[in-house]
Amino acid sequence: MLAIRTQFSNHFNYNAALVVKSPGRINLIGEHIDYNHGFVLPAAIDKYIEVAIGKRTDDAIHMVAVDLGETIIVPMHNLQPHATAWVNYIIGVVDQVLNITHATTNNFIVTNNNTPSTKINAPTNETNLAAGFDICIQGNIPLGAGLSSSAALECAVLFALNELYNLSLTKMQMALMAQSAEHKFAGVHCGIMDMFASLHGQKNKAILLDCDSLAFTYYPLVLNDYCIVLFDTQIKHVLASSEYNTRRLECERGLAIIQEKYPIVKTFRDISLEQVEACLASNDINGSKVYQRCKYVVEEMQRVQLAVQDLTKGDMQAFGKKMFETHKGLSKLYEVSCPELDFLVEAVSNNENVLGARMMGGGFGGCTINIIKKSAVEEITKELTASYAQKMHKELAVYITSIEEGTHLVAE
Ligand code: GLA
Repeated sequence: MLAIRTQFSNHFNYNAALVVKSPGRINLIGEHIDYNHGFVLPAAIDKYIEVAIGKRTDDAIHMVAVDLGETIIVPMHNLQPHATAWVNYIIGVVDQVLNITHATTNNFIVTNNNTPSTKINAPTNETNLAAGFDICIQGNIPLGAGLSSSAALECAVLFALNELYNLSLTKMQMALMAQSAEHKFAGVHCGIMDMFASLHGQKNKAILLDCDSLAFTYYPLVLNDYCIVLFDTQIKHVLASSEYNTRRLECERGLAIIQEKYPIVKTFRDISLEQVEACLASNDINGSKVYQRCKYVVEEMQRVQLAVQDLTKGDMQAFGKKMFETHKGLSKLYEVSCPELDFLVEAVSNNENVLGARMMGGGFGGCTINIIKKSAVEEITKELTASYAQKMHKELAVYITSIEEGTHLVAE
């Protein structure tokens, strides 16, 4: 694979103005919790989307997806969701930037379902995104594996535009804009976690993000003899976007029912398990799953708080146990797992060299995240690859993962 700068100059016959690298993410615990106003514990990983970008003088955006061998050109005015999925992650954030640069007031407001509005200063005229740009993309984040390749692409493009046009956006503003772009152009009503983690990652640190206030704290991830291994089912999460949006709605419905009885409740953070039982246990009629979903959310929120205490004490055994509990909740109550994910978690659940394992991300495929003793990784991988092929008739992909810096410029 040629370097992204070379790809760019080969395609466009001039040198890219800059190159940005944006990582995928893992999430240690706190799954399906970001859009429910809880805490999540993600980190950026050593898998990336890279973009090389240069300004054009006309009104077009020329996009080259190197790995897919596809080139798409769209005019910059009147951007609409595109039939080619990857294009939406680029034009979605361009649309966000244009909303700012076209704002007549100096206080364009980015709204986010999770948070109070965030004010973004409109850039001055000279920074206006008046003309189009050329962009080349390549990467090694497996697509549809639950490692947030789409968020990495959105963040890479936004970071690159921010540099190229001096937009003065903060990383948090970019995260919110990328989230809005995903809602509007990809139709997935995702939370803030993926974009946040891709942009804010730090080497060897997990980030505890309060998805209500957007305050965050870095926690050193000291794994000593252990490491993080991702087992990829290689099942692409096709159901993910529709079921994801359904889960979100089910949670909103449950919250509204609880609020009727307890008007003081603002978010799931104010809800106890007793309240879930009292308001929702008898409510699951006509196949509705609202009770199960809300029970999971409240339990997972409590688990994250305890898991952070484990992390602070360096008790990774206790932390790992909670990962297994999370998996159970995601599989049985939230119902976002699949047989392949369940198989991979089950297969390591009694292995003394595995501290914790669970499905990760939106679900319905993708990866499990595992904390495994380094000396046992090779053997476990071998066994699991064989049993996965035998039982599921699929090839297992394995990523031994390190925790890395978030989105950044790449020096020439
Ligand atoms: C996807 C979404 C995130 C988050 C996770 C589940 O990755 O993009 O916002 O909700 O699923 O935790």
